[in-house]
Amino acid sequence: LSISTKKKLVIMGRSGAGKTSMRWLIFSNYTANDTRRLGATIDVEHSMVNFMGDLNLNIWDCGGQHKYLDNYLNEQRENIFGNVEVLIYVFDLETTNKESEYQLYDDCLRNLAVFSPTAKVYCLVHKMDKIPEPEQKELTVESYRRALAKRSEMFQPDVFGTSIWDHTLYRAWSRIVYKLVPNMEIIERHLSNFRRLSDATEVVLFERETFLVVCYTAADADVPLDKYMHISQGIKSYRNACVHVQSRFQSVEVSNKFYSMFIEPFTKSTYILVITTDPEVEPAVTKANITAARPHFS
Ligand code: GTP
Repeated sequence: LSISTKKKLVIMGRSGAGKTSMRWLIFSNYTANDTRRLGATIDVEHSMVNFMGDLNLNIWDCGGQHKYLDNYLNEQRENIFGNVEVLIYVFDLETTNKESEYQLYDDCLRNLAVFSPTAKVYCLVHKMDKIPEPEQKELTVESYRRALAKRSEMFQPDVFGTSIWDHTLYRAWSRIVYKLVPNMEIIERHLSNFRRLSDATEVVLFERETFLVVCYTAADADVPLDKYMHISQGIKSYRNACVHVQSRFQSVEVSNKFYSMFIEPFTKSTYILVITTDPEVEPAVTKANITAARPHFS
């Protein structure tokens, strides 16, 4: 018996930080370019997103203009910060006043501590594309991470560098939703069994609409996970391109002498990626295995 759960996610940060952009990119068919046309959010925009069937994300995108922020932190405190499962705080790394940014963050956490003390906090250091050098990117995120760990006391936040222009946004959001999906251990166990029984090297589940990585299993523990987030981003952009030419993305199949790879619709709410490197395993067999596994995950 599955029970659907509703979880409240609040996205907070100053005006122009990129909150609405990321929401539209992940949960709608917006491209990074489209976000340039977005206007400032008026007050709070609520949206309800179904994720993996049983999970309903109740997303509160809080407009970051001064007049609204004052209101959230005063008259609306309980309404905004009550019953929060996840707070996502977006820092614009181009901010000209870091201190006032941190003060706002502190104010939010103070309210969260009162109204939702068990909430999980994620901090996104956003617009990382503005820093070209990889080393500098790493240093910037690290300096935020240190500063935020010090001032976040009871909420030890996870800190990610993100940009709407690459896979990093998918990495952060995959981690966020991973923690929210009910029965994740069961899904992971089934996926791992499926990988072993079908002699696959890597198996990944993507949520069907967002293409966020839900979970994965790999024979090699050191597999670079970022490649799955690149796939999320790539498929999402490809799917958008298909819409423009009135075609539809269906599936991907690549077979050569080194490996075979399938990306296929799997259950009502997922796509599956299966990679096999064992030359003894025929691609047709892998395909048949995917078909056979489908009812176990539905
Ligand atoms: P409010 O609704 O006023 O609170 O602002 P917001 O935080 O929702 O900002 P919004 O998403 O409207 O984005 C503001 C601008 O930032 C838009 O022009 C986006 O295209 C741009 N932007 C968003 N994310 C990124 C990013 O990762 N990199 C860069 N370079 N620009 C971004």
